[in-house]
Amino acid sequence: MKFFLDTGNIKDIESLMPLGIVDGVTTNPSLMAKEGGDPRKIIKQICEIVKGPVSAEVVALDADGMIREGRDWAKLDEHIVVKVPFTREGVKAVKTLAADRIKVNVTLCFQAAQALIAAKVGAAYISPFVGRLDDIATDGMGLIQQIVDIYHAFDYKTEVLVASVRGPMHIVEAARMGADVCTCPPAVIEACFKHPLTDIGLEKFLKDWAAATKK
Ligand code: E4P
Repeated sequence: MKFFLDTGNIKDIESLMPLGIVDGVTTNPSLMAKEGGDPRKIIKQICEIVKGPVSAEVVALDADGMIREGRDWAKLDEHIVVKVPFTREGVKAVKTLAADRIKVNVTLCFQAAQALIAAKVGAAYISPFVGRLDDIATDGMGLIQQIVDIYHAFDYKTEVLVASVRGPMHIVEAARMGADVCTCPPAVIEACFKHPLTDIGLEKFLKDWAAATKK
């Protein structure tokens, strides 16, 4: 399973890249607004650091506007994946952008029929938002299983990109279900490095080694 970082923060990306597990980045307008600078410049910088798929979202609501913005994003860097919301206009835009060989990530997916439609029109990625479904007492990961099953049944090439991830258990479940990508906020990656038994175990190994080498 691929790991993407769900952030527009350069410092966070730079600090996690040396782990060697980051395959790409997803951004959205809210994440970019938090950074405060020019989103285009920041996203270009992210592409240069990550050298893998970087999702940049359109904000137009009509298909023609989305296509225009998508083509413009695609010119910024070869690693850009254009993020388009799942709306009627968004679906129309996916077909045209995909025909231009521009990779599209269909975002704001909350049900399996949306994922099926996105695959039919040639989306490179589908982004089901599991955390936001969990927030309203709906089974977010259950949606991932449904989409994985449908895509396997019809051999769709669209990658299942688990989004709105809240903690390490979302990563575990995504991997068990065979999702292609899990996009994680940096804090969720950091949480994977926190286990009391790892800390206690390391402390004991070091103590025992020090005692053994003192003799
Ligand atoms: C997906 O690509 C989105 O950027 C993101 O995962 C949304 O997550 P949130 O629900 O935590 O805002």
